[in-house]
Amino acid sequence: MSVLIAPSILSADFAALGMAIAAAERGGADLIHVDVMDGHFVPNITIGPPVVKSIRRVTHLPFDVHLMIEEPDRYLDSFADAGATMISVHVEVLPHLHRTIHAIRALGVKPGVVLNPATPIVALEEIAGDVDYVLVMSVNPGFGGQTFIPRSESKVREVRALLDRAGNPAPVEIDGGIHQQNVARVVAAGARIIVAGSAIFHTPDPERATRELKAAALGAVTSPA
Ligand code: DX5
Ligand code: ZN
Repeated sequence: MSVLIAPSILSADFAALGMAIAAAERGGADLIHVDVMDGHFVPNITIGPPVVKSIRRVTHLPFDVHLMIEEPDRYLDSFADAGATMISVHVEVLPHLHRTIHAIRALGVKPGVVLNPATPIVALEEIAGDVDYVLVMSVNPGFGGQTFIPRSESKVREVRALLDRAGNPAPVEIDGGIHQQNVARVVAAGARIIVAGSAIFHTPDPERATRELKAAALGAVTSPA
């Protein structure tokens, strides 16, 4: 795998999601990142399965669904039915994380786990061999447009090393505050799925922003990961 670009539609115009996704796709987006928030685990409320189902009709790109919700187990079927390709869940809300990961896989969806900035990597130790990807949050989840937390760069390296020790080639994803100026650093640290919301959709030309972010990311790949 090289580097995949996953534009986050959280920062797009919700009245024109189809057009936003089409622009990102023309710019070379590899995935569409869908931020689901419940107003409990995080302060914000965003979108649910009906919206995922609707946008499923407008693109062939895989959907990377990031569940920032309490009790995600209750909604796995709905997001799988709606067209999720990948579903990530936060370790902070799941006492039975191993069961949840395998429940996602049983639905034919790729399971990922997410770590908040304050969550230690050791939380992954026992399930590092079971996941299809690990998402390192580089902001506190809840909103687009926040500033990248610098410690996240070394956290990506440490998660990569943990997955390698487990013999798992699963990619590390990074989410929050990524833009043209810092994407090379996180890719050099080992990130291989790059989420970007405001850096793409809060620009006058999301197609071009996607293309330029992807070029910067690909330019930073020094070894296959
Ligand atoms: C934050 C979300 C992110 C967000 C990223 O809670 O998980 O996916 O959309 O937005 P930017 O790239 O603007 O930080
Ligand atoms: Zn996200």
